[in-house]
Amino acid sequence: MRHLIDSVDLTTAEVDVIINRALDIINNKEMYAEACHGKKLATLFYEPSTRTRLSFTAAMMELGGNVLGFSDAKSSSVSKGETVADTIRVVSSFADIIAMRHYKEGSPRVASEFSRIPIINAGDGGHAHPTQTLTDLLTIRRELGHFDNLTIGLCGDLKYGRTVHSLIKAMKRYEGVHFVLISPEELRLPDYMKHELGENYSEYATIEEAMPLLDVLYMTRVQQERFDDPAEYERLKDAFILDTEKMALAKENMVVLHPLPRVNEITVDVDKDPRAAYFRQVENGKYVRMALIYTLLSWHDKEPSHKVDTFITDQICNNDRCIVTTEPVEKKAYTDADGVLRCYYCDHAL
Ligand code: CP
Repeated sequence: MRHLIDSVDLTTAEVDVIINRALDIINNKEMYAEACHGKKLATLFYEPSTRTRLSFTAAMMELGGNVLGFSDAKSSSVSKGETVADTIRVVSSFADIIAMRHYKEGSPRVASEFSRIPIINAGDGGHAHPTQTLTDLLTIRRELGHFDNLTIGLCGDLKYGRTVHSLIKAMKRYEGVHFVLISPEELRLPDYMKHELGENYSEYATIEEAMPLLDVLYMTRVQQERFDDPAEYERLKDAFILDTEKMALAKENMVVLHPLPRVNEITVDVDKDPRAAYFRQVENGKYVRMALIYTLLSWHDKEPSHKVDTFITDQICNNDRCIVTTEPVEKKAYTDADGVLRCYYCDHAL
């Protein structure tokens, strides 16, 4: 059984399998109309969503399967205090595969430890969003044709932006990829992620300076729900706004991506620019999730390609957004390539 908790759970070869499957689905939709007939997807969404939950639902329906689940934890027994572990044990009896979004970082990892069916992380706090990354990769492949030697600008909330973290982990594995980071001081990419990038990133203070260099500009929303201090959100929310004047500085074949929802960070007149790919990106999300569901259900006897050596620790994770602060699970850690001890669930340094 295979889960998808983090974008690096898939090798680049496995990513290729899923992207190529998505392209095949786009070209041969009728061939997949009954591909998951008799199978059930459970969508367990503890946090709001439009695109991810509905695209998973549409994906399973277009594969001929069925969907059950909840879109608001308050309508489930979570509101009575049921743990993630118990919820997953129960849902494993009702479905064949689970897509789960949770506000606590590491929740899908905990779920995978108690599940008898594949778990797909549909976003956990500020940690990871691997199916958005597959969506982004399919969009880059369809828009630009390749992943190697791209300069990718990441703009906005690089601190809490889980889509950014997952995309960096996936794209840094390709040859010659360079990241250009554009964010307010307070929302900079976490140091451990910069460390992973080595020499392959640069930081710019404005979109205007970075724009002529970019093959991809990945805009993100400053996420109100991740701020403890509303005044801090108000101060930072409009720090970077992409408009038509800034688009005039970009390469002719540059593409603008955004995981959406958008608030103010891209003006609506940019939507008319053919380089604005974010609504095409949404549609790609459905196809790549069809490919993922189909592939994970067929990989039931395929060993995980990415394994982390973990051990039980006494050290408590100091990330107050981590699932270990609320779920009675064993505290697990691993040592990363630089010798740093990290929480197994949320990857924060212990
Ligand atoms: N991109 C994304 O995750 O959108 P939703 O929050 O609407 O699912």
